[in-house]
Amino acid sequence: MTIKRSSFLRNMAFGLSASFVLAACGGAGTETAEPTDGEPIAEETTEATEGGAGALTVATEPAFPPFEFQAEDGELQGFDIDLMNAIGETAGLEIQFESLPFDGIIPALQAGTVDAAISGMTITEERLETVDFSRPYIKAGLAIAVKEEDTDINGLADLEDKRIAVQIGTTGADQAAEVPGAEVSTFDSAPLALQELSNGNVDAVINDAPVTLDAIESGNIEGLKVVGELLTTEFYGIALPKDSENVEVINDALMTMMEDGTYAEIYQKWFGDEPPELPESAF
Ligand code: ARG
Repeated sequence: MTIKRSSFLRNMAFGLSASFVLAACGGAGTETAEPTDGEPIAEETTEATEGGAGALTVATEPAFPPFEFQAEDGELQGFDIDLMNAIGETAGLEIQFESLPFDGIIPALQAGTVDAAISGMTITEERLETVDFSRPYIKAGLAIAVKEEDTDINGLADLEDKRIAVQIGTTGADQAAEVPGAEVSTFDSAPLALQELSNGNVDAVINDAPVTLDAIESGNIEGLKVVGELLTTEFYGIALPKDSENVEVINDALMTMMEDGTYAEIYQKWFGDEPPELPESAF
């Protein structure tokens, strides 16, 4: 069975609308990524934390369209970027993005060199041992991608003893590590893993479904299809250092934006659809 966009839409209430398909692919290595300042915050509200308005340094690994990617001129774009900037505006905080490799984000939060991270990051029990998360802001899940002409691999069970490419440090990498006999190769970004599959050097990629589907639909990566059921249901959250006072600030801002239509507007811009209901907590 092949997941087409339409069934994915029904299953996940995710509309990867063609009109919002991205022209630019953030396929470049993360090492060369330039930190980009967020949109200047025009007005500061009185809703900031005690101590007044401040600045938040927010880490992201910007090769994960449509959530975060770099335009030709290096400017950060994507659902997560718009959402974080809107949170800043709502909470009266200036947002400064900092590009980091994905597997460096949690260590940076632990070391306190960044204040938060928005990077399509799944809220997992394991990560909750070392960092805090905001409430869920998106529902996603993992999918298997194979070559268009592949008829052997139709689901997780068929991945046994196969070559699988993943992005390092991701839930897709965790999932691949559990496949018996699989030879797993890790890449610094999801587009690099997908390119490896497109080049015919591996048999499959396990990656977040919305990102893989966007890469296929946009034509950024050629000759691939998504097969089988979604492997997981995952919720993305904004990650913060343990016990950060900004957890509440960000949750309050998200709540305000979910009520006043700001969240729906950003969702509509990137997914061309009404946002689905989200639980207040991932577990
Ligand atoms: N959702 C997956 C995870 O949390 C993948 C996230 C990758 N994000 C990125 N910006 N590359 O492990």
